[in-house]
Amino acid sequence: MTTIDPPSSGDSPGSPACRICGTPFEPFISFGRQPISNAFLTVADFDSEFFYELRVGACPACRMVQLAELVDPKMLFHEAYAFFSGTSKGMTDHFARFADSLRQQHLGGRDPFIVEIGSNDGIMLQHFAHDSMRHLGVEPSANVAEVARAKGVRTICRFFDESLAREILDDEGPADVIAAANVMCHIADLHSVLRGVRLLLKPAGVFIFEDPYLGDIILKTSYDQIYDEHAFYFSITSLSRLFAMHDMEIVDIDPQTVHGGSIRWTVMHRGAGRASPRVPAQFERERAVGLDRDETFADWRGRVEASRRDLLDLLGKARMDGKRIVGYAATAKSATVTNYCGIDRDLVESISDTTPIKQGKYSPGMHIPVRPYAEFQAHPPDYALLFAWNHADEILAKEQGFVANGGRLIVYVPRVGIVP
Ligand code: SAH
Ligand code: TMP
Ligand code: ZN
Repeated sequence: MTTIDPPSSGDSPGSPACRICGTPFEPFISFGRQPISNAFLTVADFDSEFFYELRVGACPACRMVQLAELVDPKMLFHEAYAFFSGTSKGMTDHFARFADSLRQQHLGGRDPFIVEIGSNDGIMLQHFAHDSMRHLGVEPSANVAEVARAKGVRTICRFFDESLAREILDDEGPADVIAAANVMCHIADLHSVLRGVRLLLKPAGVFIFEDPYLGDIILKTSYDQIYDEHAFYFSITSLSRLFAMHDMEIVDIDPQTVHGGSIRWTVMHRGAGRASPRVPAQFERERAVGLDRDETFADWRGRVEASRRDLLDLLGKARMDGKRIVGYAATAKSATVTNYCGIDRDLVESISDTTPIKQGKYSPGMHIPVRPYAEFQAHPPDYALLFAWNHADEILAKEQGFVANGGRLIVYVPRVGIVP
């Protein structure tokens, strides 16, 4: 098994090189040895489990925040991919609204065509399939792609890149909209993707994508957004430079509450649209937060270390008091938390999750058993450690009974504590 090394740079042996501009950079934090975050295991898999070192740095030249080492994408996205977008009601509603806004704002012309990169189980494109609008999903993970197809969503099971964009253009013509949610930050070769987007997008078309926002990760100390699949952590400071390299520009930004704070970026060919005043305002906001300065990341590292100490302290005390703790949702993010903090079965006896493919398996690295939600309901613990804190509103609404019976949630974002 292999990891993909960043492009090597002769200047600084041992330093990774920025995947956007090639400049060597020094990681500002290491989370140590980490497993594949969505690889849930059987006991037979334990001995051959794959690990890599999870380190993050900011490029001194283009300011892109990125992982130092990347896992081969074929080891992450395949026929047994464990993340199904439709498992959260909140995200299902979010994508219904996203589809609606695309339809209203960008798909009003004659016979419009929308392409989605990373369409997963069709959570968004299903709305266009229902309308019989021309659409195409690109989704390399065969199992989730199959769920989309079963809903009538046209899906190509491939990785999106420049050569696939050319094939789509030849076969189906140019796109009015290219959409991507929670996938751009996953793709190591963004240059190939953007060459493809540029080819496939109509002259007045829009490329709209959203990903967790670096500013939220810094302000909320949500270090668990950092894991193998998230190769990049975007800001306008870094993205504006990336798009300039491809003759494109950001014309609008739209902050979203999903995934702990995301930004939806609207991008067009250079000169094709007028930038909203929200664009310069965003540069200002990032300067105020200090996303353009190394000290910001050094301070953040101190807060991450403090968060780990506080969480281990709280969990340890609860266990000393004889309390039972169950993890709530076996998210990819929880792999970083459990492995970085060293949270094992002595602290957290199991993790409850609603996704059938995860149930009966063991969590990556720490090998905590993943159990069906019915068990959580049948034997509620004293504490639920909220690994899906990004879905807190949905979960708190659902767990009113658990709380009424004395159950409590342990949270760690934005700070360690017990709710309600
Ligand atoms: N858009 C969905 C899914 C996000 S998970 C949502 O927001 O919920 C990321 C998805 O992107 C996975 O389904 C993964 O298989 C897919 N993916 C990863 N690399 C890709 C690439 N190069 N091209 C297209 N899809 C990709
Ligand atoms: P996400 O945080 O990456 O969106 O992952 C969601 C995971 O959380 C997925 O494995 C399903 C699980 N989950 C539950 O088990 N119960 C819930 O109520 C919710 C909202 C999610
Ligand atoms: Zn760079």
